[in-house]
Amino acid sequence: MGALTVVVRRARIDEVFALRHAVLRPGRPEAASVYAQVKNAVHIGAWDDKMLVACATVFPDPWPDEPTAWRLRGMAVDPARQGTGIGRQVLEGAVAIAVAAGAPLMWANARSTALGFYESQGWRVAGPEFITADTGLPHKPIVLLLSTPPGT
Ligand SMILES: CC(C)(COP(=O)(O)OP(=O)(O)OC[C@H]1O[C@@H](n2cnc3c(N)ncnc32)[C@H](O)[C@@H]1OP(=O)(O)O)[C@@H](O)C(=O)NCCC(=O)NCCS
Repeated sequence: MGALTVVVRRARIDEVFALRHAVLRPGRPEAASVYAQVKNAVHIGAWDDKMLVACATVFPDPWPDEPTAWRLRGMAVDPARQGTGIGRQVLEGAVAIAVAAGAPLMWANARSTALGFYESQGWRVAGPEFITADTGLPHKPIVLLLSTPPGT
C-alpha cells in the first residue's frame, strides 16, 4: 500500500505519455502533451506492480548563466495516489538523472498549486508568476541547485 511498494525506474515515452496527458492536459488533444523541440529527454516512471502511478521527464535545457542546466517537465501522479510520497520518489529519480549528467542546476515552470511540493524538496521560486499559454494556469519558475561531488 502507498509509496513503499512502488518501483521507480527510467521509462520510455510510450510508457508515460498516457498518464502525463490524463493528469496534466485532460480533455485536450494529445498533441498538447507532446514536448516539441525537446532533445535527449529521459523519462521516469513509478510502477505499482504493472500499473504506472507517476511520471516525470527531464532533459538538457539552458537556464540564464547555466548553459548545461536541465529542465523538469511532465511531473504527474495518478490522482488516486497523490499525497502518498510517490511524487517525491519520482522527483528524486529525476534529480538523480540530472546530477549524473553533471547538471549544476535544474529548473521548471511549476504550477502555483504545486509550489509547496517542490519547496518541500528544496526547490526555490526564481521569478514572478505567469500564465502558460497552453494551460491557462498560473506558474512560477523554480530552480534546484545541484551539488557536484568533489573531484569531479
Ligand atoms: C504535485 C504532485 C506532483 C505531487 O506529488 P505527490 O505524490 O502528490 O506528492 P508527495 O506525496 O510525494 O508529497 C511530498 C511533499 O510535498 C507536499 N505536497 C504535495 N503536493 C503538494 C501541493 N500541491 N501543495 C503543497 N504541498 C504539496 C506533501 O505534503 C509532502 O510534504 P512532506 O514531505 O512535508 O510530507 C502531484 O500531486 C500531482 O501530480 N498533482 C497534479 C499535477 C501537478 O500539479 N503536477 C505538477 C505540475 S508543475
